[in-house]
Amino acid sequence: MAQYARGAAAVAVIRLHNPPVNALSLTVLQALEDGLKRADADPSVKAVMICGENGKFSAGADIRGFSSPKRHGVPLGPIISLIERSEKPVVAAIEGIALGGGLEVALGCHYRIAHVKAHMGFPEVTIGLLPGAEGTQRLPRLIGVPAALDIITTGRHIPATEALKLGLVDEVVEENTVEAAIRFANKVIGQPLGPRRLSLKPVPKLPNMEAFLSEALVKVKKQAHGCLAPELCFQAVKAATEQPFADGVRKERELFNILLTSGQAQALQYAFFAEREVQKWTTPNGASWKSTSPQPIRKAAVIGLGTMGRGIVTSLVKANIPVVALEQNVEYLNMGRKAVMLLLEREAMKMEQGAQTLDFHNPARLQFTVDFDVLHDVDLVIEAVFENMALKKEIFHKLSRICKPGAFLCTNTSALNIDEIASATSRPHQVIGTHFFSPAHVMRLLEIIYGHHTSPTAIATAVQLAKALKKVGVVVGNCFGFVGNRMMFPYVQQAVFLVEEGSRPEAVDQVLEDFGFKIGPFRMSDLAGLDVGWRSRKGQGLTGASLPPGTPARQRHGHRYSPLPDLLCENSRFGQKTGKGWYQYEKAGGRTAKPDPWLHNFLAQYRDTHHIKTRFIDQEEILERCLFSLINEGFDILAEGIAAGPEHLDVIYINGYGWPKHRGGPMFYASTIGLPRILAKLQKYSEAHPDVPGLQPSAFLKKLVAMGNPPLKEWMSYQSRQSNKL
Ligand code: 3HC
Ligand code: NAI
Repeated sequence: MAQYARGAAAVAVIRLHNPPVNALSLTVLQALEDGLKRADADPSVKAVMICGENGKFSAGADIRGFSSPKRHGVPLGPIISLIERSEKPVVAAIEGIALGGGLEVALGCHYRIAHVKAHMGFPEVTIGLLPGAEGTQRLPRLIGVPAALDIITTGRHIPATEALKLGLVDEVVEENTVEAAIRFANKVIGQPLGPRRLSLKPVPKLPNMEAFLSEALVKVKKQAHGCLAPELCFQAVKAATEQPFADGVRKERELFNILLTSGQAQALQYAFFAEREVQKWTTPNGASWKSTSPQPIRKAAVIGLGTMGRGIVTSLVKANIPVVALEQNVEYLNMGRKAVMLLLEREAMKMEQGAQTLDFHNPARLQFTVDFDVLHDVDLVIEAVFENMALKKEIFHKLSRICKPGAFLCTNTSALNIDEIASATSRPHQVIGTHFFSPAHVMRLLEIIYGHHTSPTAIATAVQLAKALKKVGVVVGNCFGFVGNRMMFPYVQQAVFLVEEGSRPEAVDQVLEDFGFKIGPFRMSDLAGLDVGWRSRKGQGLTGASLPPGTPARQRHGHRYSPLPDLLCENSRFGQKTGKGWYQYEKAGGRTAKPDPWLHNFLAQYRDTHHIKTRFIDQEEILERCLFSLINEGFDILAEGIAAGPEHLDVIYINGYGWPKHRGGPMFYASTIGLPRILAKLQKYSEAHPDVPGLQPSAFLKKLVAMGNPPLKEWMSYQSRQSNKL
């Protein structure tokens, strides 16, 4: 609702009230409209002030309402026009947030006063929409086309100080915003309102508007990776530059409805709620976020300052958590220190207030050492040494002796068994997997893996750590590769098999990038380094010296195996770092991938040697074999109770593996194309490749199809085994 009151003799106050974020539900809108009419009708009211309850203006339209089948258009636009047409000055008092429809309400007001800590923005684009209550027409009139386009097409939040510079707000205050706005409203009573009505203002001209817009469109399209909303946001703003306000509003409405009914908006809104849902973690044995409190992390340590450790230290420093960074010897320590300092300096430059807020030159905030004894007083340790079980166990044994009893011991392993690592300690309940993604100070995902003995408090603390680091933590069970990498194995395997059978790395990458992945599997492998997987396969006895003599080249444990990645490594083709891998690069460390005739020749010879008949493989087969095998593994993971629901898999894939968010994550995507189709295709491909377990349809997928393809929300009610693979 919206509460109506009198703030001062002549000022009516309308307070938006819909906890927790004052979303503009139909009830709130009705009450807002009623409040405006009441203020208009009361001759003793000379000005109106609109604010929000609980220190928040409003997070905009109620997103849940968009999935209602009856929903068409936005009822907010006419109310905003009503605000703007008011003959009494209306002032918005913006505290906390004014997002989406919330900001549109503020733009309808004649004046805007913001608290210094408030944020504003149009995040609609991130949920597959555009500002649909005249925001695309008012904002460019207020702050000009370049700034409006940036805000509307990126969805970024603008701090109040930036909003003031842009002219988005009239005043920024540090004191009580509501009181300041009432005082302001009293002052402006009687002043002409015409110049304050944005719909009457012209859009500020640019000398080169046409050229600016065509350049901006190229940029918007490039960053969209197949997502529709940014381009339609652009079209709506462009309409403001070409048409009168009312026509622009009609165009905005038309574009909004196209987006609203596109599957992309549904997928992105699903992703929005999925991210919030996974925060409410549970485990199969009944532990949950509701009944568990985290322990405070006042000081942390990171062991190993390689690729991952550097980013993890940077993340902790950015979150204002004092860190001890430890390496195996002084030489590695110096290398690690240099790398960390470089990252932090770059981050400080990016941050609003620069180095002032990143206190990393103070040894009390960031200390480098080779001495394990220094770790005696930390609350949490994150181990990021080489992926080697014996080494990890040695380190955890040492940590369990040195660290104080309450300290949590976390491992950044990408696939190893958390229980085996925990077995080296005297406190397995304090041991937990915290799987960061590279680069760790940038990637949002933190996969949190509980072992057999991990305590609920350890889980809650890791989840809290993710929040403090501004990451999304997803709690999952323990199995080889956990969720993300486990689903990735069959996907990458199919990509390599397709190349064996006649395709090319660039063809496979293209299909998956056209689907919306930021980077295809071969480009990704070149970026991460082919040697990483090679070392892991050697460790598993799949290749190298430990391979039993006489093992067939293309078979392991009775299943199909491709030695192609191993052969590339044997030819010192480790990817970007060596200037060649699945592609060739301009130099070692180069970034521009070019198809490599050497590789094409090599593939032709390889197929000859192994009597593989090359065949043409179309885009559909590439897409289906890669994606459906990944999804198939997802169903096994759900069946085993490794993840609490499909949302977890989707949040992991969107935030850690470059899955296109506008397709909602692999399991949501599966639900949109229908499980019967996926099952039928897997059956077809597994008949053609009976020696590939990843293509054998999951029993859980079969069950769901047999149950009539229920909606994603109901899948877990058909899952019978409630234990994870421990
Ligand atoms: N509608 C419905 N529910 C919303 C909501 C919205 N606009 N915004 C947030 N919520 C809900 C969340 O789902 C969550 O619910 P839960 O407690 O049941 O899980 C609760 O509010 C709190 O949200 P967060 O956990 O995200 O809280 P934070 O403090 O971390 O973040 C926020 C707050 C910055 C407001 C963030 O929630 C957010 O970005 N919300 C979305 C804002 C948005 O996209 N607005 C545009 C809406 S579309 C629109 O306005 C169209 C218009 O142009 C016509
Ligand atoms: P890396 O090889 O870049 O760095 C490992 C670091 O550990 C080295 O600097 C090494 O000197 C240090 N180290 C080794 N033994 C040590 C000891 N006894 N004491 C202190 N330091 C020691 O490895 P990377 O890539 O950073 O990986 C670290 C861990 O993170 C591995 O378990 C890996 O599987 C995992 N991981 C890696 C990802 C990646 O993309 N590289 C992604 C996610 C997880």
